[in-house]
Amino acid sequence: MSMFDRITPTAGAGGTRRLARPGGVARWNVIRGVGSLSATLWVLLTPGIWADELAVAPPPRPLYEYRQQHDPYGIGKFYMGREIARVMSYRGAGWLDRPERVREEEPEKLLTALELKDGLVVADVGAGSGYHTLRIAPRVAPRGKVLACDIQQEMLNLIAAKARKNQLTNIELIRGTPSDPRLPPDAVDLILMVDVYHEFEFPYEMMEKLVAALKVGGRIVFVEFRLEDDRVPILRVHKMSERQILQEMSLFPQLEHERTIGTLPWQHIVIFRKRSTPP
Ligand SMILES: C[S@@+](CC[C@H](N)C(=O)[O-])C[C@H]1O[C@@H](n2cnc3c(N)ncnc32)[C@H](O)[C@@H]1O
Repeated sequence: MSMFDRITPTAGAGGTRRLARPGGVARWNVIRGVGSLSATLWVLLTPGIWADELAVAPPPRPLYEYRQQHDPYGIGKFYMGREIARVMSYRGAGWLDRPERVREEEPEKLLTALELKDGLVVADVGAGSGYHTLRIAPRVAPRGKVLACDIQQEMLNLIAAKARKNQLTNIELIRGTPSDPRLPPDAVDLILMVDVYHEFEFPYEMMEKLVAALKVGGRIVFVEFRLEDDRVPILRVHKMSERQILQEMSLFPQLEHERTIGTLPWQHIVIFRKRSTPP
């Protein structure tokens, strides 16, 4: 069986909605409520303390769990109850560029939802063969650019070749590591991850650095195959529920869930915005 177990196409679920972050504010209230007296005094007595530093939620300990029995397409490593998927190899790059992808994913609808404009700095994290990078670059030109980031040099080479062929000069390639996208801090307006986040071997560490790379007011966008929909013909570990995404992002109070868009045939678009000060 291939990585993506195709069965039947599905109808799209339209609309936009906004959900409360599960455990987000409630978690903070509990943490605030049980904070030790010494910590409270330290906060009260320390002048000029940064709100951002105080508001970072403690991650689960241990961060990751390892199980012997697991999905054959996963790596046996679990994060907040979810098994992390195997990274898609550059040998599968042809699948990313398949012509039927236009019908299955309707990339134009995604581009509309991203509200792109000249001047934006967009990071396409897990850019793969550049399917979205190549579409975004002309829409943010001439003043904006795309930082195409991937851990596989072979994928970046494919993007470089396509950029040359299409005479696109506003694409920068960044070779990240499994725990660090190597993006500059406070430099990015929009971080896009299409079918990527569920493959991160170190999701917590990656998110810490992605949040740091985002400008205040910037957006981070997850596009993931809908786990909630059995008709989406994709292997389980390569799908994510909206609830799971919200739960994992509740560890990052700098991020506010702005909305979830359900207009794509198989994927949801889950959008967060970086706050100026956490709640
Ligand atoms: C399924 S492909 C999706 C590619 C592209 N976003 C698209 O929609 O065509 C996932 C990509 O994420 C990359 N990836 C996995 N973990 C990564 C990480 N920690 N940082 C950057 N890229 C990563 C893989 O190398 C692979 O190219």
